[in-house]
Amino acid sequence: MAARTWLWLLLSPLILLLLHYALALLTARRARKNPLPPSPPALPFIGHLHLIGALPHVSLCRLATKHAPDLMFLRLGTSLPAILRTHDDVFASRPRTVLADIIFYGSRDIGFAPYGEDWRQARKLVNTHLLSVNKVQSLWLAREEEVKIVMEKISKAAFAREAVDIGQILCSFTNDLACRVVSRKLVGDDRQKKLLQELVNKTIKLLSIFNVEEYFSILARIGVIGKVMCARAERLKKKWDMLLKKLIADHESKCDPYLVCGRNKDDFVDILLSVRKEYGLTEEHVKAILEDVFIAGTQSSARVIEFTFAELMRKPHMLKKVQDEVRACIPNGQAIVSEVQVNNMTYLRAVVKEFMPERFVESVNGSATASVNFWVNNYQYLPFGSGRRMCLGMNFAMAVIEITLANLLWKFDWALPAHAMEVDMSEEFGLSVRLKEKLLLVPKQHV
Ligand code: HEM
Ligand SMILES: *[C@@H]1O[C@H](CO)[C@@H](O)[C@H](O)[C@H]1NC(C)=O
Ligand SMILES: *[C@@H]1O[C@H](CO)[C@@H](O)[C@H](O)[C@H]1NC(C)=O
Ligand SMILES: *[C@@H]1O[C@H](CO)[C@@H](O)[C@H](O)[C@H]1NC(C)=O
Repeated sequence: MAARTWLWLLLSPLILLLLHYALALLTARRARKNPLPPSPPALPFIGHLHLIGALPHVSLCRLATKHAPDLMFLRLGTSLPAILRTHDDVFASRPRTVLADIIFYGSRDIGFAPYGEDWRQARKLVNTHLLSVNKVQSLWLAREEEVKIVMEKISKAAFAREAVDIGQILCSFTNDLACRVVSRKLVGDDRQKKLLQELVNKTIKLLSIFNVEEYFSILARIGVIGKVMCARAERLKKKWDMLLKKLIADHESKCDPYLVCGRNKDDFVDILLSVRKEYGLTEEHVKAILEDVFIAGTQSSARVIEFTFAELMRKPHMLKKVQDEVRACIPNGQAIVSEVQVNNMTYLRAVVKEFMPERFVESVNGSATASVNFWVNNYQYLPFGSGRRMCLGMNFAMAVIEITLANLLWKFDWALPAHAMEVDMSEEFGLSVRLKEKLLLVPKQHV
């Protein structure tokens, strides 16, 4: 008995090795017929899964640097191969996931929609009517109103000499801003706003699992993970649907007390409803697009501001320099920094770009510089992605990030709480990268 066990122990590595070579031979023969991009050594069954750590963007970046700067072939579990640095027209469709299908009305949104006519129309609509440069600029008042509110909150904490959880304050702020631009009726409705934030949180959490689902698609097919997740997605979708249905019904009703003689009909729901026929979109498309605005548009910007704060706290000389610049631009007695003035703050704008964490993979060489231009196909630095599926909300995001940072750095001085030794920059990976630990900061009123 013991002897047999020993024999097995000795033999099994050998057998595995043989299997590995057999597979490698097979793959090599297939590869000659069907050439693939260069690829790191793979294991049987799990492919390259063992090479991907808890922070996929970091692992992938490392792999790409080592094995293939242009194109790399990876096999993750048994699912479809993931191709980095995608050839745009071939890979413009993201992997479909069951969960996104449930939540986004059969992936009728933009972010998860398969590459095709529906996606093209929805993207064009949003690009032309909701998030165009002009439309984003015209939303300056909405941003100013919400910045005022967040500054009042922080002033209260400063007065009480309390620390604030900057990430939480910023997530509420970007959520409230999204609510304000999507529907004027949400502005005073704290209950609905909180519900929306909760839905966004839960959806992001659920969709972050799609990584796991893709990697272990065999498990999902058997139904181990699948059933529980799908049930959760269905419940979440029901809540979204009730909320969005009501938003749309409110906007379609004739007796709208918020509208004076049909003027001001320009929030996102109004616009979507007024042009949806022209673009051939159903009400389900409209609802899915609204989900995208909340899910893609709120936490991402808040995270960038939080990340920038964290970096500035670690680099006091930069913090001082950026505050000196902001304060030099603003005359005494002003109540709030305006967006025209932010245009003059070149250092602040450079700092934002430098500290913007990259959510996705494509970076080969992490070093970004202030002169980098988002629009150029510069593969070293792509916080907003690139190509046909590039982020639609870039202008919106940059406007919010800059005006918020300018105001918070102008009005307050910031310090770490007395007990904190340094900022913990550990990251957590989800749909977007975020700091793992809360960033607590003590504000002090400056002006
Ligand atoms: C700092 C904030 C943001 C970052 C870093 C960011 C980043 C990204 C990235 C990396 C992608 C994928 C691009 C690709 O696959 O090549 C993306 C897609 C997208 N983003 Fe953003 N985003 C931000 C804010 C926003 C905002 C504010 C909105 C809307 C209000 C938005 C809407 C979208 C949409 C709709 C897509 C899907 C586009 C498509 O698939 O055609 N994003 N974003
Ligand atoms: C949503 O998540 C953010 C950040 O993770 C958190 O600060 C906020 O309290 C959450 N809100 C709700 C309503 O769950
Ligand atoms: C921007 O800076 C220029 C030159 O320093 C100055 O003349 C101009 O008034 C500034 N604009 C604003 C809006 O502060
Ligand atoms: C990355 O940047 C460093 C320094 O800027 C440079 O020496 C190196 O060649 C770059 N690597 C790649 C792969 O571009």
